[in-house]
Amino acid sequence: MTAAPRATEGVDFASAQLPGRALHDLLARAREAGGLANAKLAGLPARLLTRFDDVRAFLADEERFPGGPIFRSRAVARFVERDLVPLAHEIVDRFAARGEADLVAELTSVLPFHAISRKLGLPQGSEAQQLGWARDTLSYPVTPERALAARAAVTRFLEPIVAERRANPGDDVLSHLLGAEHDGVRMSDEEVFAHVRLLYAVGASTTSDGMSSLFWALLTVPGLLERAQADPAVRPRIVREILRCEPPVSVLPRMAVHGGDVAGETLAPGAFVLVALAAANRDPAAFSDPDRFDPDRPELESMSFGHGEKFCPGSHLGRQQLAAALDVVLERLPGLRLLEAAEPAGAILRRVPRLRVAWDPASAGRRRQTASFAASSTREPTSSFS
Ligand code: HEM
Repeated sequence: MTAAPRATEGVDFASAQLPGRALHDLLARAREAGGLANAKLAGLPARLLTRFDDVRAFLADEERFPGGPIFRSRAVARFVERDLVPLAHEIVDRFAARGEADLVAELTSVLPFHAISRKLGLPQGSEAQQLGWARDTLSYPVTPERALAARAAVTRFLEPIVAERRANPGDDVLSHLLGAEHDGVRMSDEEVFAHVRLLYAVGASTTSDGMSSLFWALLTVPGLLERAQADPAVRPRIVREILRCEPPVSVLPRMAVHGGDVAGETLAPGAFVLVALAAANRDPAAFSDPDRFDPDRPELESMSFGHGEKFCPGSHLGRQQLAAALDVVLERLPGLRLLEAAEPAGAILRRVPRLRVAWDPASAGRRRQTASFAASSTREPTSSFS
């Protein structure tokens, strides 16, 4: 039994920011040592898992290491692209004529919340509030009172809407959730509230975070912007590569409820495991030259959306949102250039907090008819999780 390496000893992943390379260098040292590393989660001892094969095996073993209740509805997987591009244009319309914007504050923190709200069939105009609630909900390990207050606010917001939708169901995810039966039993209001809270927390904020890193890479990786402008076919690969290099869920906290053997060590029941998706995604045993941003790399599988039974049901929707935002920004903001950027930060949930850009408003393009979107090469082959 190897002594647990010390690189991450004392690092509390619930609050550490570790901007830019700091996270990846720290995880690389732990990965080199292999096995499990000591770390902290909101002040409690935890074990960090870093190697690709170990992470994949742990996530695949739903029986011994269950990841909490399975998300029942796969309705999100049926969200079609038809709505995403017009929505992205709508949001870009708000600042296109200005010639300058913070893409995080005005696009990446907005589009995913609008997308989920629209799909859920929620009234428009409350998206900014929903963003606040979603972020607060995820802050539970660090600020439980704020998370619980956000949780209560979401319930108060949803109660009248759910009552109305039960009486008049529509073609939206909320109606699907209300109509869905599990072993002949319909969901209670509280179960529906929990699902919607989860969709915001794991759906909208992860996508928002991933989208912020996408535009950061586009504007900081040498030659990438020019290549994406010139060759739309590379765009889905750019989306895939940024999700590998800077996964929005960089470290996934799990509890080994029953204990068991992990990476050659026996964990006691109830031990916290920090499943480092960001470390697995840069494991040289799985990716050649892993720290290089390379949209042409042959390796397809990463751990960015988890693995096994709890694999993200919204992965297609998440990738489609990033692709749609990329298409629309490249179409509508000619001469796009970086003014000022912060690096990706956050050890569990990772995002770029600020990205100030400028472009030539005079030649800012009018919307191309979205009808052409269907034909554009950024469209990936759909994979359904129905
Ligand atoms: C780039 C965007 C996204 C990333 C990186 C991402 C990542 C993840 C990861 C790593 C998990 C696995 C958690 C685990 O094993 O415990 C997960 C689960 C989940 N994701 Fe996503 N996700 C994204 C977008 C979405 C979207 C758009 C939705 C829905 C609208 C969504 C809904 C869910 C749900 C419901 C689960 C829980 C699955 C379950 O418990 O069975 N995600 N996501």
